[in-house]
Amino acid sequence: MSEHRDGPRRGASIDARDVAVRYAESDRNAVDDMSLGVEAGEFIVLLGPSGCGKSTFLRTINRLVIPAAGTIAVDGRNVGDVTPEELRRGIGYVIQAVGLFPHLTVAQNIAVVPRLLHWDRARIAARVDELLGLTQLEPERYRGRYPRELSGGEAQRVGVARALAAEPRVLLMDEPFGAVDAIVRLALQDETLRIHRALGTTIIFVTHDVDEALRLADRIVVMREGKIEQTGAPLRILAHPATPYVEKLLDAKDAVRRLQLLRARDAIQTRVERSTTLEATENTMSAPIDADASLRDALSLLLQGASAVAVSEDGRTLGTLTFEDVRTAIAAQAQ
Ligand SMILES: Nc1ncnc2c1ncn2[C@@H]1O[C@H](COP(=O)(O)OP(=O)(O)OP(=O)(O)O)[C@@H](O)[C@H]1O
Ligand SMILES: [Mg+2]
Repeated sequence: MSEHRDGPRRGASIDARDVAVRYAESDRNAVDDMSLGVEAGEFIVLLGPSGCGKSTFLRTINRLVIPAAGTIAVDGRNVGDVTPEELRRGIGYVIQAVGLFPHLTVAQNIAVVPRLLHWDRARIAARVDELLGLTQLEPERYRGRYPRELSGGEAQRVGVARALAAEPRVLLMDEPFGAVDAIVRLALQDETLRIHRALGTTIIFVTHDVDEALRLADRIVVMREGKIEQTGAPLRILAHPATPYVEKLLDAKDAVRRLQLLRARDAIQTRVERSTTLEATENTMSAPIDADASLRDALSLLLQGASAVAVSEDGRTLGTLTFEDVRTAIAAQAQ
């Protein structure tokens, strides 16, 4: 986890094997024999009800909790062999209660780790502005503010910026957006996805919000009583819940959930050969939607009376979608 300045660096892999944690005075393991391999750059979401061990497992990765059994390696290096300071420099950590230092400005909060690393002033200042930009906070406006002068959502952003400051290769996020309203939460999720795409950081994100998990994850890890119940890509888990517990937790029968995860572009691909119908349906065609819009958005237009929805990309029409296409797309991924 050495320092590095040339362009974005890739995330680290994580390999947890047979990890068990038991808190003192407890009669059962909070984490029980958990094994999980995470690829470099993967976005993992740990999902499960309160008390199932999500936070505990997360904290074993940066050694805030020491497991009673098992091993955890970050990029092949056992976390027990690295000093906690070095380990935590390479791993950003965002928690729900943000934990900004109240007596430090936004810029000083973000600069905490770079200062520990003795970066020079100019480099720290540039990094702070870069991160404020990345989290959609105008540097001139926010740099000098104190945490008490921020809204909940802004404070969360500063928390994310601070965790990213030293270019960590792993980002652990423990219900980071729990305290903000639904709109701000969606915006923060979008920013997290953008940051993930831009930096390639490995992210492990804890939530008990199913929609948040479905929206963010490359792979969802469903936990139950300290164990992994199922792991898989969001659509795959929705379509094939391994147990009644997973099915119930995800409300997997809710077709609307699936529609949210399917893109308009994927549904039109199945009917390119029928594009001649385009003219015939033109008079009841909706305004175009973007190819990356969800099928849920497409369905909503169809329900408003359009017989077909035009799908466009960069101003170019790619094709159309009908009820039939939406239905076919759902059936296809449920195979
Ligand atoms: N410091 C602690 N000392 C003793 N028991 C603890 C401690 N922290 C957590 N526990 C217990 O360990 C279990 C797992 O807790 P953990 O915080 O990992 O759950 P979680 O899945 O993150 O839950 P939540 O969604 O409510 O945050 C729970 O039974 C909890 O009561
Ligand atoms: Mg927790």
